[in-house]
Amino acid sequence: MYLEMFLLYFCIFAAGIVQAQNGRRIPGRKLDCVFVEQKQNEGADMFVPTTIKRKANLLFGDIITNEEAIIFKVQESSLDIFQYADEKLDTVGCEISRYSTHGIHVPWPHQGKETIEDVWFTVTLKHSPSRFTVTSFMRKIEEPDSQKVEKSEAKTDDEDLVIADTDTLFVQVVYIVHTRTPLIRTKLKQDLVLDCGYKIDHSTDFNIDWRYQHKGNKKKLFAYNGRHQRVEYIEKGVELFMDQIKQGNASLLLRNIGVKDEGSYLCSVYVPPLFGTHTIEVEIMESPIVSVYPDSVSLIEGDEQKLVCDAGRYYPLDVEVKWLRQKGERHMLPVYMTNVIFSPHKQNMDGTYNVTSFFRFTASLRDNGVTYTCRVEHASVDKPIKRYIQVSVEAQSRTLQFFLLTVVIIFICAVVIMLLIYLKKVAEKNKKKPY
Ligand SMILES: *[C@@H]1O[C@H](CO)[C@@H](O)[C@H](O)[C@H]1NC(C)=O
Ligand SMILES: *[C@@H]1O[C@H](CO)[C@@H](O)[C@H](O)[C@H]1NC(C)=O
Repeated sequence: MYLEMFLLYFCIFAAGIVQAQNGRRIPGRKLDCVFVEQKQNEGADMFVPTTIKRKANLLFGDIITNEEAIIFKVQESSLDIFQYADEKLDTVGCEISRYSTHGIHVPWPHQGKETIEDVWFTVTLKHSPSRFTVTSFMRKIEEPDSQKVEKSEAKTDDEDLVIADTDTLFVQVVYIVHTRTPLIRTKLKQDLVLDCGYKIDHSTDFNIDWRYQHKGNKKKLFAYNGRHQRVEYIEKGVELFMDQIKQGNASLLLRNIGVKDEGSYLCSVYVPPLFGTHTIEVEIMESPIVSVYPDSVSLIEGDEQKLVCDAGRYYPLDVEVKWLRQKGERHMLPVYMTNVIFSPHKQNMDGTYNVTSFFRFTASLRDNGVTYTCRVEHASVDKPIKRYIQVSVEAQSRTLQFFLLTVVIIFICAVVIMLLIYLKKVAEKNKKKPY
């Protein structure tokens, strides 16, 4: 592994020197790729295609590799793939496949040679945390400066070309379609640029087309005819950067994004006979607003109390609300509450959801000093959202004692007062006896 890395860097370094000396434009670079092919299973009753993956190297500039791989040598006059893929190589996935024009033969200009095989490949560079996807169309060309006699079967159909595990193919990058936003996770009410760009190695006709699809719902959003430089269709609410469309910017602008805008957006740029498409996924992520009530509560033994946790305005629907009970300090493990009741999800006008979760309990002294935690997990947040309720419970007995004491005092006072009144009456009676 380290040796490979070392060799790679060494090669890049060496190529850099060669390049500097020659003043070439294509930087020396090697990409590890997989060559993916679909093969029909012969002999089987059903046409079940199997996917065959083989090791491939994509080489740029004067770089040499000894790897046992299918070598695609990208020739100089090509477009620059890396212009749209500016990340470190190790986070980029590279996949090469054959590209079939499905029998459509549209001549693609080629400097010098007239007769040229119609063999096409695509190479897709994907950055793993979704920073970009670049699809480049490569056409197979003859080995440059080759002394070889032209093969008798000058024209091969792309489906027929057999590629062995260590073959070297010379290719030219002629057309690139790219996006810097293959996945957009967004809050509501934002303005979004769905990035889509293209580059063709010569000036020619092209058509741009945007489509939307989500859960079986499909619609056309935009169609542009490059030959007539005319917008043929544009859906309400959709905008494009029309001043840049001919310069290779086919990006779409959506304003004030709502839940209804979630879905897949397909940007297609058709340069006959090549059809370049990227899918841009738009996902709405709105974090729940979590609140509990009451946030602290003082109870007397035997009291019944309801604790409520509201999670509001979240999207998508999946949410997990849990109640935990923890007594004392951290060393005590929390216990999940089981007697919890949930309201059905309520939908707000903007498409977000609310849910309420609550439970009741009868206070006992064991609940004194307990913290109840409402814990909400949602795709929009890395860590669960937590809200706490502190509970304190006082013993009923002490209160009762106090109550009894009060009653006794009042009783004694009453007795004393009545006694005094009685004594006074007796005294008066005795006084009224003059005779
Ligand atoms: C297209 O133009 C918009 C607005 O200037 C910009 O945000 C976007 O990155 C451009 N995309 C490409 C592919 O040039
Ligand atoms: C959902 O919760 C939010 C606050 O979290 C509140 O403002 C809104 O009224 C609630 N909607 C419904 C339908 O209960």
